[in-house]
Order: sequence, then C-alpha cells, then structure tokens
Amino acid sequence: MTTTITKTTPYDDQKPGTSGLRKKVKVFQQSKYLENFVQSIFDSLEGYQGQTLVIGGDGRYYNRKAIQIIIKMAAANGFGELIIGQGGLLSTPAASNIIRKYNAFGGIVLSASHNPGGPEEDFGIKYNVGNGGPAPEKFTDKLYENTKTITGYKKARFGDVDLDAVGEVEKGGVKIRIIDPVADYAELMARIFDFDLLKQSIQNGFITLKFDAMHAITGPYAKHILEDVLGAAPGSVFNAVPLEDFGGGHPDPNLVHAHELAEIMFGPNPPTFGAASDGDGDRNMIMGANIFVTPSDSLAIMAANAKLIPAYAKGISGVARSMPTSQAVDRVADKLSLPCYETPTGWKFFGNLLDADKITLCGEESFGSGSNHVREKDGLWAVLFWLNLIARKRESVEDIVREHWQTYGRDIYCRHDYEAVDAEIANGIVDHLRGQLDTLPGKSWGDYEVKYADEFSYTDPVDGSVSSRQGIRIGFVNGSRIVFRLSGTGTVGATLRIYLERYERDIRKHDQDAQAALAELIDIAEQLCEVKKRTGRTEPDVIT
Ligand code: G6P
Ligand code: ZN
Repeated sequence: MTTTITKTTPYDDQKPGTSGLRKKVKVFQQSKYLENFVQSIFDSLEGYQGQTLVIGGDGRYYNRKAIQIIIKMAAANGFGELIIGQGGLLSTPAASNIIRKYNAFGGIVLSASHNPGGPEEDFGIKYNVGNGGPAPEKFTDKLYENTKTITGYKKARFGDVDLDAVGEVEKGGVKIRIIDPVADYAELMARIFDFDLLKQSIQNGFITLKFDAMHAITGPYAKHILEDVLGAAPGSVFNAVPLEDFGGGHPDPNLVHAHELAEIMFGPNPPTFGAASDGDGDRNMIMGANIFVTPSDSLAIMAANAKLIPAYAKGISGVARSMPTSQAVDRVADKLSLPCYETPTGWKFFGNLLDADKITLCGEESFGSGSNHVREKDGLWAVLFWLNLIARKRESVEDIVREHWQTYGRDIYCRHDYEAVDAEIANGIVDHLRGQLDTLPGKSWGDYEVKYADEFSYTDPVDGSVSSRQGIRIGFVNGSRIVFRLSGTGTVGATLRIYLERYERDIRKHDQDAQAALAELIDIAEQLCEVKKRTGRTEPDVIT
C-alpha cells in the first residue's frame, strides 16, 4: 500500500463536546481539519493494528466525503478491516450494535445528531470504543491533547471506495465490507420484543401508528421494521427518505420541530400511537392520541413495566438517569427496590454502569432512552418498547400514562432553552449562580423553600473517575427542582438550559398544563439566573 505522511499544524478548536466534535460543515471543510481530528483519534488508541473499525453516519451533507477520507486514513494507520454501512449510512444505535456484534476495536460515527444539515449547517464526528459506546472522557481528553500537538497525518493512496455496493473489497491490503445498515439491527430488535404480538396488534388494527423519520436516518430502519416486518400500513412511516439537508428541517424530535407529527396526533382522528426520531436515530419522541409523553415520564414508565417486554421479563438490574432528567424514574426504582443512578448529561456516562450490569435501562430528558442491548440511546428501540407495552397492556398511551401518575404521582416537568447566547454572558450567568449557592439554602419564595443548592459533581462508581461542574442544582423542600446548565452540543455561542420540575401527588391536579403549573418556578429561575435581564430576551427559544 502506498501511504503518504502529510505535514500539518494544529487547529485550536477541536475539543470534543457532550457527544464528539460538532462544527459547521464549513469548519470541517478547512484544509486538513478532518484529517487532523481523525489522526488524533488514531494517535489516542493503542493495540488497534490489524483490528476492525466500523464507519457510518447519518447521511448528512459531507458524510460521504468524510468517509472516503477516513477509509484511507484508517488503512494507512494499520486497521485490518473496515465495516461500513451501505451508502455510508448507519444510525448511531445500529453502529453501536455492529461494533459489539462483530467485535470491532471501535467505530467512527459521523453525525451532528439533531442539528440541521447541509453545506451551511452542521457536521460531527465521534469515536466509539469496543463496547459500542461513546469514548469516555479520559479518551476524549487525550484526543484533545493530541489535536493540540499534531504534526502530521497518514493517508493511503487508493481510489474512492464504492459505498453503495454491498459486498467485500480489498484496498491496499485492508478488507472493506459494505453491509446492509438495517439487517443486523432489525434482527436485534426481533430478539428483544414480541414481534408476533406486535404483528397481530398492528394487523388487526388495535394499533395504528405514524412515525416521522424527519428525512433522517431512521427512515429505512423504521420502514423496514414497522411497515415491511410488522405490517403497518404503507405511509405509516413518513419523511422516510434520508436527505443530506433533512429537507431543510431541524431533525429534532420534539413538539416544535416534529410539528407535522404533533399536528396529526392532536388533530382529528389521530392514530393510537405516534413517534419521531432524530438525525442519527438515537432520540425518540413518544405520543399517543392527543397526548405527548415527556421523556422523563417515558423512562419511568418503561422501568415500571419492563417485565412485560421479553428481553427484560426476568427483571432489570437497575436504572439511571442524567442529572437534569426528572425524578420520576427514582420513584419507580424506590418502589421496585432497584438501584438508581444520577449521572451527568451525556450518554457516555451510562457505559460503565451498563457494562458492569449495575443498570439495564437508562434515559435522559433530552429525548433519549436505551438499555443494555447497545451502548447508545436508541430511538426505534424506544418506539418498539412502547408499541410492545401498548399491545401487552391493551391500553392507550394516555391510559398508560395516567395509570402511572396515579401510582407514582406526576413529576410535572419542562425545559427552557436560550440558544446562541453570547458566550461571555452565558458564563457570567453561571458564575452569578455559582456565587449564590452558599446563600440559598433556607431561602423561600412562597411554598418554595430551598433545601440544597450545589454544583453537580459525579464520581463514576465503576472506575472512580470524577466529572465536576456538571450543572447547578437548586432543590426545594417540597421536592421541586430547578437545574441550570450550559449545553455541550451547540455550535453557535452558548445555550443555557433551565430544567424545571414539580412533584404532584394529588390525582385531581394531574391534568394541569406544565407551563402553568411551573409558573412560579419559572419566575424563581429568572430571579436566580437573570437570563432575560442579561440577554434582553423575553422568552426561551425552545420549550420542551
Ligand atoms: C446528545 C447526547 C445526550 C445529551 C444531549 C443534550 O444527544 O448524546 O447524552 O443529553 O446531547 O446535551 P446538551 O449538552 O446539549 O444538553
Ligand atoms: Zn442523536
């Protein structure tokens, strides 16, 4: 194989965030920018010579180009085999499955998740380790150090690989396998869920459904599983063709961006079930006829009912949620005497807990849930979980949710995001909050008396690693909570997230609108952080 070593100089902005490196496409298109980052990944690895690397992405603009570069660099750096999804496509959970199933050394996932795509929009890259999960912080720290000192990168000299032809080719001594991106994943889902029951319930009309793939990666997966295998009516999966710019949309499954689905589910004659997934297929939004299930409730409901799903019928070992996720799942864990862990935001923090079998299910408020079947969150898995639940309980989504609230009480929850805030102002807000922490306990606003105020720090129970400064928590005596943190996934300025929750035991009060029920807390949050005052904004950009 002919390999060239090209000299390069570092870029100073290649620090991975919550989920890899995410930047505008234009940034990635700078000379040697992607090459620097990819070489820095390889320079952070040990023992990969001759091993297998999985490569795939969500199909957004620049995916194919990036994959051709990575193929040549992986070959030059000594990988023995590359497994790549046809068309360069692999959803994030499917990539995780492929890494695990074929004992790969690791994988490179190309995605900026739910961020828009296209020449003017976002691209991203992250490295997943051999367990199929995102690399832990000690790896990304090392990787960042390497990006600051890089002097050269290796690239093999051979022509582009045909990404569309399933099969095996050899280039420069490296085996390259182009695989069907859907088949292995579909087979995994069939082992977890009761597909016979699902087929019956869908084909006899008990379940009708709509799935919005948002012109992103889950289109082919959902079409195959929901329509071809389970028999949902053609067209049940819509916006099903992945497009490089997601049709100009913002592939984030929430009520604002998946409005087409929301209109159907809150419109006349809605189907029994509705769902959407994001750019790379790891997020999910669950809806029923005239109801939206908040991700925090969804996780709690899954945990409470896990025994109804074949793969979890013998019980689950424990549960985990990210810190800003509501405490609804804690109540389930308490009742079922299950261990419950609170981790920082970022799926990578669940990896050790899953590997050590301390937990079976986990989830986040940011529309992510998953289990030990892979090491990423998994949108379509969550959809199938809910469908299986509906079929087993023979109840509507609304009934399942209400019954859950009756048993456990309702954690009324919402999140307010202020996007593209000037970084200096955003840091000022966090400093201002930090400065008040010691003075807050004991302070009251009406029924809200502060019980504790701290900055969340996490010690991983498996490897003892410590992650500090993971968000500000203000807990109240009545069980309510306000959390503030800066997003680690944005690409423009800073995003301030304010998470609000209030616990309501009284079933007569379960029907409230979340914004109204949380009005006092929203007010207290502004007094504490002054985001409106400091930015001149009058309201959040996104409310979920
Ligand atoms: C990605 C990560 C999640 C995280 C979410 C929001 O989807 O995989 O683990 O919860 O981003 O992160 P952010 O830092 O933007 O709040
Ligand atoms: Zn995603």
